[in-house]
Amino acid sequence: RTVYVNGEYLPEHEAKVSIFDRGFLMADGVYEVTSVLGGKLIDFEGHAKRLARSLSELDIRKPMEDAALLEIHRELVARNEIDEGMIYLQITRGAPGDRDFVFPPEETEPTVVLFTQSKPGLAESPAAKTGIKVISIPDIRWGRRDIKTVQLLYPSMGKMMAKAAGADDAWMVEQGAVTEGTSNNAYIVKGNTIITRQLSHEILHGITRAAVLRFAREAQMKVEERAFTIEEAQEADEAFITSASTFVMPVVEIDGAQVGQGRPGPVAHRLREIYIEESR
Ligand code: PDD
Repeated sequence: RTVYVNGEYLPEHEAKVSIFDRGFLMADGVYEVTSVLGGKLIDFEGHAKRLARSLSELDIRKPMEDAALLEIHRELVARNEIDEGMIYLQITRGAPGDRDFVFPPEETEPTVVLFTQSKPGLAESPAAKTGIKVISIPDIRWGRRDIKTVQLLYPSMGKMMAKAAGADDAWMVEQGAVTEGTSNNAYIVKGNTIITRQLSHEILHGITRAAVLRFAREAQMKVEERAFTIEEAQEADEAFITSASTFVMPVVEIDGAQVGQGRPGPVAHRLREIYIEESR
């Protein structure tokens, strides 16, 4: 695999980052995951915009223009012959020569890393046909979840807790309401209405979320952006998640309780189809 690191395209085993990198020492960095379908990037503009916002909120210098970033994405897709998969991008505050809580001097170059992940069958995912199971766990992450930082230890632990419980993923709960999934946004469906938590500092502003809500409204579905509880979700007609890596993925079980008929429902199915159709 050819990867990109700080201005160079290299075979992955030759790509190196300093041990003093703030991303490594302090999780001082941000990331984006952009999907590729049929060799085409999905929603690059949305991801670039969110990246710029994440960087600006953390006072990390934006290392290049969006056009240059797009060029690297395209180059990696071509060099690695990605048909279906993802591009991972990470930018950290860089590598000053030592460990210090104080931010390094202005002139410190941010570290920029990109690599591809080939996922043949992303669109035809078997999980989308059966649906996934989730458990609920308390949301003990920090208060700026709208910034896409690389602090992913708790979401990673959440995923492990789900696996240990025989489920696929976890929905995080704060003050009685679902915030989001470990690496996705959470939704329930009641009749013709799609309910998903409103945007705030408490959740990541999903790029897939924005697209799916737009498609839902265009398809004359109703959208309510508000918080919901696990109990409400268990009694809903359908539930699903969205993210760049899963698109629209039906949820058929929450904390052991079957949602609806325990099978993917028509709304999630339809939104998944529209999303994939529009992204090709
Ligand atoms: N995760 N919420 C969280 C906490 C996420 O980490 C993600 C994305 C989302 C969905 O955002 P989007 O639709 O822009 O992918 C919501 C990526 C895919 C990841 O960490 O791999």
